[in-house]
Amino acid sequence: MDIQENIALKNYNTFGINVNAKRFITIESVYDLQQLLKKEQDVFLLSGGSNMLLTKDIDKLVVHLNIKGISIDREDDSHSYITVNAGENWHEFVQWCIANNYGGLENLSLIPGNVGTCPIQNIGAYGVEVKDVITKVEAIDIVTCKLVEFSNAECEFGYRNSIFKNKVKGKYIITAVSFKLTNRNHTLNTSYGAINQALNDNLIKKPSIKDVSDAVITIRQSKLPDPNKIGNSGSFFKNPVISKTHFELLLEKYPDMPSYIISDTEIKVPAGWLIEKSGFKGKRFGEFGVHEKQALVLVNYGNASGKDIYKLAQDIQQTIRKNFSINLEIEVNII
Ligand code: EPU
Repeated sequence: MDIQENIALKNYNTFGINVNAKRFITIESVYDLQQLLKKEQDVFLLSGGSNMLLTKDIDKLVVHLNIKGISIDREDDSHSYITVNAGENWHEFVQWCIANNYGGLENLSLIPGNVGTCPIQNIGAYGVEVKDVITKVEAIDIVTCKLVEFSNAECEFGYRNSIFKNKVKGKYIITAVSFKLTNRNHTLNTSYGAINQALNDNLIKKPSIKDVSDAVITIRQSKLPDPNKIGNSGSFFKNPVISKTHFELLLEKYPDMPSYIISDTEIKVPAGWLIEKSGFKGKRFGEFGVHEKQALVLVNYGNASGKDIYKLAQDIQQTIRKNFSINLEIEVNII
């Protein structure tokens, strides 16, 4: 357990922002994490670094969580119960599931980040959210250093939301996540238009979990920038939910506005569409900008600062407020 000094964080966050950590430690076991927390509790956690925008150097001790390992807890003739340590890369785990014929995560292929952070924002894509297959989350209570468990219900999952972003924010460190996955008769979710299209294009009539995963990978690669090439954090904003009355007023002015019904009184509208309609899509401001194929994604072309990107996000929020009277909520954590 060596503490290093003055470490550049550029390669530890998918936005590729170059700030420094005064002190930095990599943790590879729950035991080491407990020992560290007994000595120092005011730490800054860094996992896959895929949902954060770093706007300044980090003064606290940066703890890089790198606890690895996958275990199969039990299997019956329909499901397998699998526990994965927090430091496993998400997409590599999804690919491992597909190679071993475990179904349920294929729609979540190619999402950046590590397994330990997937419950925090309840990652979701193409009609599936990770809450659909999580059975429990293991975490260390930072104050007592004890290992505790949260059942699925206790995680209080919502759209890009969970108890870890609210009531217990900053109180626990997630060390492992358990999943209930199918091991035969997989229930595929191909209802999302683009998945159907990709399967049809490849003339696939009876898709396997691998076919669905491949379709998702193709769609994501066509729309979303690869963080290894262009720094980004996926969707920067949440899709806003507005009242039906507000929606109907907007529809008079923008009859082509896409929407999803949430309830009798609420409608979700795609933030990407609002941002595109406001003229930001593909706009580049030197080292940073708005992605050309998906306006919900802000990008760092190389040497942008977190402050530059945050300022752009605020400009976008202000414009959307002016044009549509909608408040866009930032999904990424601003540090
Ligand atoms: N749209 C535009 N312009 C754009 C982007 C989107 O008009 O630049 C329109 C599309 O035409 C479509 C609608 O907005 O009518 C929805 O677009 P898309 O299917 O690309 O999905 P999204 O709502 O923009 C969400 C998630 C993504 C996830 C996709 C697919 C959020 C905040 N984002 O995006 O998640 O991959 O659905 O399920 O809910 C992420 O969280 O990092 C992420 C990429």
